[in-house]
Amino acid sequence: MSNTNQWNADKYKKHADFVSNLAFPVVELLNPQANEKILDLGCGDGTLAVEIEKFNAKVIAVDLSESMVQKTKEKGIEAFVMSATDLTFENEFDAIFSNAVLHWVKEDEKAIKKISKSLKANGRFVAEFGGYGNIKFLTDVMEEVFNKHQEFGNFNNPWNFPKDSDYKQLLENNDFKVEYIELIPRPTKIDDISNWLDIFANGIISHLTNEQQVQFKQEIREILKPKIYSEKDGWVADYVRLRLKAYKTV
Ligand code: BEZ
Repeated sequence: MSNTNQWNADKYKKHADFVSNLAFPVVELLNPQANEKILDLGCGDGTLAVEIEKFNAKVIAVDLSESMVQKTKEKGIEAFVMSATDLTFENEFDAIFSNAVLHWVKEDEKAIKKISKSLKANGRFVAEFGGYGNIKFLTDVMEEVFNKHQEFGNFNNPWNFPKDSDYKQLLENNDFKVEYIELIPRPTKIDDISNWLDIFANGIISHLTNEQQVQFKQEIREILKPKIYSEKDGWVADYVRLRLKAYKTV
């Protein structure tokens, strides 16, 4: 959530609805109960917040993107623009849920402290996001293209893909008891890699001219095609999920 990526809610809906479609096991892990107050941290367009409210829980949703918060509100969910590192809640939630967001948060300990502060005593934190090894093909090729074009400047990788052991330690250092944490390789079908780059990597190339941005995307596509595209399956990204459930112990 803390980066310069710009979110286009319409493109996201058209090309990235796999993000919420594949998150039902995380909602299952959350196991929402009637009358619980649950924070959806990084709600995107609100699709999962709506699913969680179907359990008769009260969902408050936050996201860094104004356009995503707007889409969420249009679905009838109470939503605010707020980042994971600046949550303003205190002892308020029975549970905090977060899908496909925390890999954007480099200051992970700061976020965990805010998550803890926002939870009631014994509240649970259930999350899934990109973990160690996530989209390695893609980030390696991005680096390769940046290295080839000195005029593009440095590749500033905006993502944090932690190891399960490191994240567990981080949670334990901040008064969480970890019930479950696992790295799960999940090769993920995406539509054309160009759309993925447009939606998720625009912040990495926002300093380039339009021509350079087109060149960047074309070169990535050419190099990646033999590695992650097949006639049979189309484009398949090498996603690795870090999935966890932890309880606040204080
Ligand atoms: C992910 O869900 O793993 C992800 C999505 C966009 C950018 C980087 C990672």
